[in-house]
Amino acid sequence: MNESKKKQAAESARFTKTRLSDRKLQVKSLTRVISFTGGKGGTGKTSVVANLAVALADLGKSVLILDADLGLANVDIILGLKPRYTLQELFAGNKTLDQIIIDGPNGISLIPAASGVKSICNLSTEEKLLLVDAIEEVAYRYDYLLIDTRAGIDPEVMYFNSSSGEIVCIINPEPTSLTDTYAVIKVLSRDYGEKEFSVVVNNTPSEAQGKRAFQKLASAVSQYLNVETRLLGCIPSDPALPRSVQQQQALNLLYPSSPAALAISELAREIDSQFHQYRIKGGMQFFFKQLLEVGTYGG
Ligand SMILES: Nc1ncnc2c1ncn2[C@@H]1O[C@H](COP(=O)(O)OP(=O)(O)O)[C@@H](O)[C@H]1O
Ligand SMILES: [Mg+2]
Repeated sequence: MNESKKKQAAESARFTKTRLSDRKLQVKSLTRVISFTGGKGGTGKTSVVANLAVALADLGKSVLILDADLGLANVDIILGLKPRYTLQELFAGNKTLDQIIIDGPNGISLIPAASGVKSICNLSTEEKLLLVDAIEEVAYRYDYLLIDTRAGIDPEVMYFNSSSGEIVCIINPEPTSLTDTYAVIKVLSRDYGEKEFSVVVNNTPSEAQGKRAFQKLASAVSQYLNVETRLLGCIPSDPALPRSVQQQQALNLLYPSSPAALAISELAREIDSQFHQYRIKGGMQFFFKQLLEVGTYGG
């Protein structure tokens, strides 16, 4: 290697090192990765994630949503956003993640679901690694990365849940929701070593009913699965929510004093008030590489 090449290499190594240490510092104190799951569709995951993001932004937090649920009501539809590109373009090497991310209300950002062609939940291993790498490149800029996952227990859904620092189950008080969520927790604890779960009871006729539903789930999982659950909050059944979905606008902005909007704002404050200590978990994980570099973060 000649002198000028050596100088160039040293320069570029120094640059990379500075960039890495900048990023480490930012990741260390900032990004919290939370995935939202539930046993079955229709419990309100997408509505809660979209509106929670807007409520967290109200608290001055920067939020990135990864829409990993290819359901009927994607996050972009609920919030009236128009994706320009899909993740297909990232995988094809035509676009960067920054070009795919779109802006939403209150300054939130969204990685839209991979459209029609292929669900984000059916990615090849290379595509998954590429996606995680691309997300790691941008997510350090955000306080929160919220992942809206598809319902169910297939391994692809579990992948996103176990890749997150925290898992929140969105349930409703119906018995089927409880048994389906029990099944999700069972698989995540047995096969992926997850031992802590937060729960939000959505679409509940009363807070008392919501708490009773949580208690039922909590006692079953602690008795049979040796897993800890805690109640993050209850969101009431509220016609304002489907109305806001119909109008494709954030509930908190359209009907800020509706009971569901108030409950979601309270949920945002509750989540943001917790100084959760991230654990280094085995397997693939968002920020896994950075976690190895800095040890635990969040403290
Ligand atoms: N708290 C609530 N009160 C009334 N309707 C709700 C509530 N939460 C969700 N819904 C309605 O339930 C339906 C399913 O919600 P969605 O967020 O798409 O669920 P998921 O993503 O879990 O499939 C939507 O029509 C939504 O408007
Ligand atoms: Mg959904």
